[in-house]
Formats: sequence, C-alpha cells, structure tokens
Amino acid sequence: MPTVIENAVALLRQGELVAFPTETVYGLGADAANADAVAKIFAAKGRPADHPLIVNLPGDDQLERWARAIPDAAYELAEAFWPGPLTLILKRQPNVIDAVTGGQDTVGLRVPGHPLALELLRAFGGGVAAPSANRFGRISPTAAQHVRDDLGGSVAMVIDGGACSVGIESTIVDLSGAALTILRPGMIVAADIGRVLGRVPSDARVDAPRVSGSLEAHYAPRTPLSLLPADAVIFAVREALAKNERLAVLAPMLCPISDDLIVWLAAPSDPGPFAHALYANLRALDALGCARIVVQKPPASQAWSAIADRLQRAAAGSG
Ligand code: TXA
Ligand code: MG
Repeated sequence: MPTVIENAVALLRQGELVAFPTETVYGLGADAANADAVAKIFAAKGRPADHPLIVNLPGDDQLERWARAIPDAAYELAEAFWPGPLTLILKRQPNVIDAVTGGQDTVGLRVPGHPLALELLRAFGGGVAAPSANRFGRISPTAAQHVRDDLGGSVAMVIDGGACSVGIESTIVDLSGAALTILRPGMIVAADIGRVLGRVPSDARVDAPRVSGSLEAHYAPRTPLSLLPADAVIFAVREALAKNERLAVLAPMLCPISDDLIVWLAAPSDPGPFAHALYANLRALDALGCARIVVQKPPASQAWSAIADRLQRAAAGSG
C-alpha cells in the first residue's frame, strides 16, 4: 500500500490539488512549475488570477532556484525562522511562472514548519504553490474538516494533520527592494526580525506589491462581527437580551449573564493560544446563526498585532 505522502506526491505530479497542513493554516497545494495545476488553485478558491501565491519549499537550499539577487538578510531570516511561519518576498527567477507571481517581478517563498508539510515537500522535491485552502475572502482553515467544508469536491486529497499550531497566516516580509517591509503581520513580529537583522522592518503597506490579505473584506464570517472594548461587550449583551436576539461572544472575561440567547466562548488571554484557536472559534461562532458576533478588542501591543489585523478584517468583511 502506498503511504499518504506517496499518494499525495503522485497526485501533485499529475497536476492535481492536494490540501495539506502547515503550522499556520492549511494550504491548497499544486506543483508550482505546472501552470495548468496552478490554474486549478484559482478555480477552486474563486480567487482573482492576479493575486500571487506563496511557493512552499522543502528547505532554504532551494532558494536560488526561485529567487535571484537574494540579499544576505534573506539568508539570515531563513536561518533564524525556517522551517516556520515566515514568508520572504524576493526578486523572482525568470523561469518562475506568471500564474504563481501574478505577473509581478517578485516571488513569495516559505519553508513551512509542519512535519507532514515538510515530508510532502521533501518527497516531492520541488516547489509547491499553496495559498490558504479556503474560498477567496472566507475564514482560513486550521483543520482538515474546514478544508472539506469549503473546498470538498475540488481537491483531489486532503492530508489531515490535526489542528494547525500557530493558527494564523505567516508573516510576509518584503526583501525585494531597498526598504524592509512587513506586508502582512503574523506571529513573528517586527521586533523578532529586528533582533536577527539589526534593523526593524516598517509596517507601511504604501507602495507595496498587492497582497490579497490586505484587502478589507478578508477573513470574513457571514454573521456581522464587531470588535468592541470590554464595557461595550457587556452593553451588547444587555442590548441583545432587550431585543430578544441571539448574540455570539468571544472574550477573555467571564460571561456576566447566563441566558440561552448568549453564546459565550472563552478567549485565551495570551496571544499564542488566542491565535491558535482564532479561526476555529470564528467558524464555530459563525455557524450558530446568531444576529451578531462580538469580539473583545485585543491589547494594543505588538504581540497582538497580527491578531488585531485579522479581527479588523473579519469585522470589515463580515455580514
Ligand atoms: O501561512 C501562510 O502563508 C499560508 C500557508 C498555507 O502557507 N498561506 C497563505 O497563502 O496565507 P495566501 O495565498 O492565502 O496568502 C498569501 C499572501 C497573499 O496575500 C499574496 O498576495 C501574498 O502572499 N504574496 C504572494 N506572493 C507575493 C508577491 N510576490 N508579492 C507580494 N505579495 C505576495
Ligand atoms: Mg488566504
């Protein structure tokens, strides 16, 4: 009997889609050198064709196959954080297909930190283009069942590796120009990068290449979601009771009122566990069919910046 990984590699070689776990979120993988296979990703996700994909690699020894004019900083970050939740944007090699880069002169590269992802990539021996395995604009999947729920019929295989440990998408750092910029915040924060490089990246998104994660309506539940300070969460509970409406809440404090109309999920008070559970919590709250979801605003510190970013987008795109 072939193993799961052997099967998955065979499907990738045939140009089919394989969803697989990474430490951030599940990826929807295709052979990054096969334009027909990559086209299937866009069809399955319903994603606009000019949105570039991240190429997942088995190790940093393959960087030069995909990128050129690689600055020392890229090797230093790869050494410090790979395998792990960091994506580097670099100048692309001319042979990298346009379907992957969205026609841009750059390519996004990452070595994911999940053992099954690494096993798959090593056995495949090349680059696997893999966006998050959700329909475009919806909540990213952190469990195999989320992928089946979203993309079921359009994926040849879903490798089930359990819940993703990090739980939100990788930090994206642009190293393709003179400026060092974070294009998408993640659990590796600016200060972590600063400690390695001796200079801190800026968060400016101005003039940056287009990143689909920076669209307002992204990571969005169907139920209207608001991000509120603690006192406003309590007020929303009172208001829901007064209106006889069902309300879903994600907050670290104790539920002030026990009532069937209020569904209260306890939010972890530390950013790591909060991020780990965030998308599964949003999916669970969204599935309740409540009139509203309210989430207590996270602290303003850098450790929470990626979570705050995802929650703001979820609020902007919800409903
Ligand atoms: O954690 C992750 O990065 C997950 C897992 C599956 O690896 N992947 C992921 O992929 O989040 P996706 O496609 O959902 O988001 C990738 C982001 C997009 O916002 C895309 O625009 C950006 O990376 N991106 C890819 N290549 C780029 C490039 N050359 N320049 C600028 N942004 C790029
Ligand atoms: Mg995505």
